[in-house]
Amino acid sequence: MDAQVLAPQDRLIVPPAPKVHPSPLGYAVFGELRIAWEMGRNLVGAYCEEDFDNLVTPYLFMGSPGLVVSDPAAARQVLTSPNYRRPVKASRPLKPLVGEGLLLSEGETWRRQRKSLAPVFTPAATGGLLPHFVAAGAGLVEALDDRDHANLAQAFHHATLDAVLRALFSRRADAEGALLADLARRYMEGPAHFKFLDFASRGADDLTFLDGDRRALGRRWLKTVDALIAERRAHPHPDVRDMLDRLLAARDEDGAPLPDREIRDQCSSMLAAGFETTSRLLFWAAYLLALDPETQGRIRAEVAAFPAERVASLDDLKAWPLLRAVLFETLRLYPAAPLIAREALEADTVLGCEVVPGCMITISPWLIHRHRKLWDAPTAFRPERFLGQANPWSVEAFIPFGAGPRVCIGAGFALAEAQIILASLLARVEIGLQSDRPVLPKASITLGPDHEPAFVLKPLNGAA
Ligand code: HEM
Repeated sequence: MDAQVLAPQDRLIVPPAPKVHPSPLGYAVFGELRIAWEMGRNLVGAYCEEDFDNLVTPYLFMGSPGLVVSDPAAARQVLTSPNYRRPVKASRPLKPLVGEGLLLSEGETWRRQRKSLAPVFTPAATGGLLPHFVAAGAGLVEALDDRDHANLAQAFHHATLDAVLRALFSRRADAEGALLADLARRYMEGPAHFKFLDFASRGADDLTFLDGDRRALGRRWLKTVDALIAERRAHPHPDVRDMLDRLLAARDEDGAPLPDREIRDQCSSMLAAGFETTSRLLFWAAYLLALDPETQGRIRAEVAAFPAERVASLDDLKAWPLLRAVLFETLRLYPAAPLIAREALEADTVLGCEVVPGCMITISPWLIHRHRKLWDAPTAFRPERFLGQANPWSVEAFIPFGAGPRVCIGAGFALAEAQIILASLLARVEIGLQSDRPVLPKASITLGPDHEPAFVLKPLNGAA
C-alpha cells in the first residue's frame, strides 16, 4: 500500500492504493493462476511496477493472446474502431436484468438504440432532471439528521438509487418505489458480480442453467418495470417529468415509437449502469475530502454561497468549480469503472503489436490515470489540476467514462447528480473518519472500498 502522506503545508496527499508488486506475479501456468486469483479478489490488485511505466504490454493468458493498452491515443484508437466489440462473455451477469438494452446491444441494434436515446440525455433533458437530484440530496441529509456517525458507503448507495428511480420513474426509493429499490439493490449487490462460471463459459448464453438467481431476480425486476410502463401509458403525465416520459415520446429513425419491451430494457440499462457507479464516485470523493479538510472547507464556502436547493439549471452548477474539480480528480484516482475490455474481430496492429482475431484488449482507467509517463504526481490527490480546465475531456489520458462511440451516455447525468448530492451533504455537516485505518480500493465491476468505514459527521453551525 502507498504510504498515506498528509502534509498540509505542501498539500501532498497520497491516498491509499493496493500494493504495487515489484515485478510481474509470475510466468507460465503458476503465474497465470496467481494473476487470475489476485484479479478474482481485486481487479486492481495484480499490477506491478512496470505496468505504470509501460504503454503497451502483450500477454498470453491460458493460451489466449491479450494486450494491455495504456497509451491514451492507442486506447482511443481501439475504443473508436469498429474492429473491436465488448467481449460477449462480459454481458452474462447483467443480461437477465437489462435484456437487449443499450448497455449490452451490439452492431446495428446498438446504433439505432443510441440514436433514439440521444434526446433523453441532451443537456436540456438532464437539466429537467435536476429537481430529482435535489430531492435525492435532501433525502440523504434528512436520513442522516441527528447522526454523529454514518456509513456513507451505504448512505450514498441509497441516495443514488433514490436519484435514479426518481429520474427514471418519479418514484422514491423509500416510498412507492421501495420494491424497485429492493430488487435493484439485491441484483446489483449479488448476481451482477462475476462468478467463476462466467469465466468458464464460452459466451453470453452458455451455462445459463446455472444462473438461477440472476434469472429469478431479473424476471421480478422486468415484471415490475413492465407494470410501471403499463400504468404510465394508462395515466400519462400532462408534461415531461422523468426519463420514462421521454422514452415514451422517443421515436426511432422511421418515426415509430419504441416498443414497450425496449423501453423497459433501456430503463434497466440506465439503472444497472448508473446507480452503483455514481455511488462509488460519491464514496471516494467523501473519503478524499475527509483526508483533506482544507479542500472540504473551500468547497463548503462554494456551496454556502450557492446552496443545492437553488440549482435550477445545469449552468447553476458552475457556481461550484472546486467541487467539480474534486469529482474529476476522484474519477482519476478512483475510476468507478476501472476496466474497459474489448475483443478484436479482425487482425490489426496497436502500437506496433500484432492483434489477432479474438485478442482481448484491456484498457484500464486505473492504470492510465496513475501512469507515471502521463501525469505529474500521479498518485497524489490534487483537484487543482482540473481547476480552470474548461474541458477536462480534452485531457487525453483521462477516460473515466470511456471514449469513442460507446462512451458513457450518462456522464452528464452522473456528474450533475453527484455534484448536487455532495453539495447537499457538505452544506450540513463536516465529514471526517472515525478510524485512521486506510480504506483500500477493491474492484469487481465497480471500484468499491475493501471495508465500509464509519464517517464522523459534525453538524455545522446554522445548519437547519
Ligand atoms: C460515475 C458514474 C459513471 C461512470 C464512471 C460510468 C462509466 C462508464 C463507462 C466507462 C462506460 C463505457 C464502457 C465501455 O466502453 O465498455 C459506460 C457506458 C454506459 N453508461 Fe456509464 N458511467 C457512470 C454513470 C452512468 C449513469 C448515471 C448512466 C445512466 C443514467 C450510465 C449509463 C451508461 C450506459 C447506458 C452505457 C452504455 C453506453 C453504450 O454502450 O452506448 N452511466 N459508463
